[in-house]
Amino acid sequence: MTERNLTVRVARIARQTPEILSFELVHPTGRALPGYQAGAHIDVHMPGGFSRQYSLACDAGGDGRAASRYLIGVKREAAGRGGSASMHGRVREGDLLPISAPRNSFPVRAEAHRHLLLAGGIGMTPLLAMAESLARAGADFTLCLFVRSEEHLAFTEALRQPLLAPHVRLHFDAPQATQKIDLRQLLAQREADSQLYVCGPAGFMQAVRDAAAHWPEDAVHTEYFAAPADAAGAPGKPFVLRLAQRGIRVPVAADQSAVDALHAVGIDIPVSCEQGLCGTCVVGGEGDGAEHRDFCLTRGERAHKVALCCSRAKSEELVVDL
Ligand code: FES
Repeated sequence: MTERNLTVRVARIARQTPEILSFELVHPTGRALPGYQAGAHIDVHMPGGFSRQYSLACDAGGDGRAASRYLIGVKREAAGRGGSASMHGRVREGDLLPISAPRNSFPVRAEAHRHLLLAGGIGMTPLLAMAESLARAGADFTLCLFVRSEEHLAFTEALRQPLLAPHVRLHFDAPQATQKIDLRQLLAQREADSQLYVCGPAGFMQAVRDAAAHWPEDAVHTEYFAAPADAAGAPGKPFVLRLAQRGIRVPVAADQSAVDALHAVGIDIPVSCEQGLCGTCVVGGEGDGAEHRDFCLTRGERAHKVALCCSRAKSEELVVDL
C-alpha cells in the first residue's frame, strides 16, 4: 500500500515554464517537515484519487536535518493519465495535500571526487537539489540541463545563485540556439572516480546511456519517470519467497508480484511506483538469486538487495531479509 503519512499545505504555486508549475509545500501549522537528502522524492496524493511521485527540487540543508519546505516541479503531460492535470487544474494555494515522507533511491555519492549531473527537461528537479547540495559542500561538479529552448528552462532563479551558476551548462534543442552540448563528446572521457547522474524522458535517458556505454555501470545513476517501453521482460514463473528472519516460505504465483504475495499473507511491504523505479519496496536479500527487473538499484546494490514489486527468482526460490 502507498504511504500517506503527512499532510502539507500548498504555500505557493509559481509558473516556471509554459508547461511546468512549481509547488512549495509547508507544514500546515508552520512546523518543520521531515528532512531528506538531495535526490529524494515524495508521493503526492491529489484530487481525483491520483497519486504521483515528484522529486524534491531544493536541498534541505543536508545531514537529514528538518526541512522548512518541500519544492516540486510538475510538468503538465498532455497525454498523461490525469495526475499532472489534477495538479495543474485543481490544486490551489492554501489547499492541504496528503503526501508520503521523503524517500531517496537516487542519492549523491558524496565520496566521489567529481560529479556530472545530466537532466532532460523536468528531470532537472532531483539534480537541482543534488547540485545545491554539492555546491554547499564545495564539491567538483557540473550540472548540464537539456531543454527545448530558454522558455522551457525551469527554476532559473535557483540556477542563477552565485554558488550554483558557475557549475551550470545549458543545451537548447532549438536549431537557432547557440548553447549546445555534444553528449558523446561530454561523456567520451571519464575522469577517474567521477560519477554520472541522469534523469529525464526515456529518449534522453537512452541517448545518455548510449553515450556513456563505456562508463562502469556502478558509476552511472539513473532516475526514470516510467519504466522503459521495452522493459516488460519475460512472463513470470511461479517461485517461493523464503523469509529468512521469519523462517517461512511464501509462494508467488506466475501472475503475482512478490509484494502481492506478501500482502496476501498479511505482510505489509510499502510500495509506491510498482514499476521498479522508486526503491520503496527494496529489501535486503540474496540478490544473486534474483532476476532483477528494477531501474533503481546499481549492479553493486543488486548483490544484496531486491525490489519486491517487480523482481522474481532466477530459479525456484528467492531468499530475502524479512
Ligand atoms: S514500489 Fe517502486 S521500486 Fe518497487
